[in-house]
Amino acid sequence: MKIAIVRERADGETRVAATPETVTKLIGLGATVSIERGAGETARFPDAEYEKAGAALGSAAEVVKDADIVLTVRRPAVETLIGAKPGALVIGGMDPYGNEGEIGALGRAGFTTVAMEFMPRITRAQVMDILSSQANLAGYQAVLEAANAFDRAMPMMMTAAGTVRPAKVFVMGAGVAGLQAIATAKRLGAVVSATDVRAAAGEQVESLGAKFIMTDALKDASGSGGYARELTDAEKAAQAELTAAHISKQDIVITTALIPGRPAPRLVTAAMVESMQPGSIIVDIAAERGGNVEVSNPSDIVTTPNGVTIIRHKNWPARLATSASSLYARNLFAFLETMFDKKTKAFAVNWDDELVKATVLTKDGAVVHPNIKVAA
Ligand code: NAI
Repeated sequence: MKIAIVRERADGETRVAATPETVTKLIGLGATVSIERGAGETARFPDAEYEKAGAALGSAAEVVKDADIVLTVRRPAVETLIGAKPGALVIGGMDPYGNEGEIGALGRAGFTTVAMEFMPRITRAQVMDILSSQANLAGYQAVLEAANAFDRAMPMMMTAAGTVRPAKVFVMGAGVAGLQAIATAKRLGAVVSATDVRAAAGEQVESLGAKFIMTDALKDASGSGGYARELTDAEKAAQAELTAAHISKQDIVITTALIPGRPAPRLVTAAMVESMQPGSIIVDIAAERGGNVEVSNPSDIVTTPNGVTIIRHKNWPARLATSASSLYARNLFAFLETMFDKKTKAFAVNWDDELVKATVLTKDGAVVHPNIKVAA
């Protein structure tokens, strides 16, 4: 059973799908592991460490040749996979929504594509949840970068020269990234408030010591799988009114709101940005999905004419490549572990396993996932 890992080819991607730690564990399952030379360099895992862990190093073509399984961070192009065994499992972040054409192409090329994003949020699969492991780091990093761009201190400081007031941080969207952003901002000493459209988020926000704010017009917009549903126009208007009233008094705003399969909801208008004080910072973690903040300039870092800096990097986990790769690689390993027999070390996918059913996008030359519609 040959497992291959190639260097990520996407612009700005610094993560790697296996670390020396998981290579050792994968070999322990009964697999052989080949990794492209330099694949771990940007995440600070040198080739020598992979070799020590038992991996074979080679060029991308050598590594992929006759592979049964290819592990990736992002969806690879079909060309990168040429030479792998027919039906090879390609497991990673596939970013399926909006990329149905590329998924279809992987299917037609004969690959069994597995989207880790579709892992069900059930207890057994928590250890395989790449969305959580990566969003957690994103929430943390977003606050650090906001604090760094902010010209003032975050905590209250009582000094001989007088008192510095603490920064006010507002977190919009209190899922995994948002909750970590709240916790990080609290640790830095900020006064934190947060909002979400799921009522259950309120208790979690408050348990971190932040103030939860939510419009009375919205009881609960929980959708399926623990995710949020899209708001109605009336709900959106009520939320905008609340945001407009609150945001002008904030120093730092971190937006993280997402709805699965949809563009990120637009929560902060240009007028709201304009209402903030010069020197305020907005970090839009949802930028990769179109962003929660209205901007006229799509650059990663923009300062508006009224002096508000908007930071909208597209790949937050890649900015913490070592930690992000370590957790991501463990998520992948945990899933692969379920496919190997511990005693005989035989590899067999149980196609009836709910985790497999939920994540397999393509198989036997076709798209098989009900959520992925490919034009005929
Ligand atoms: P996500 O990344 O899909 O969205 C981020 C947050 O934005 C969510 O909290 C969502 O409610 C919120 N949001 C959406 N529209 C909004 C709007 N208009 N205004 C304000 N906020 C808005 O969510 P994530 O982080 O994946 O978490 C979703 C849920 O899944 C949470 O309940 C989380 O606790 C739960 N979860 C469960 C896990 C498990 O059981 N294994 C693992 C991780 C998360």
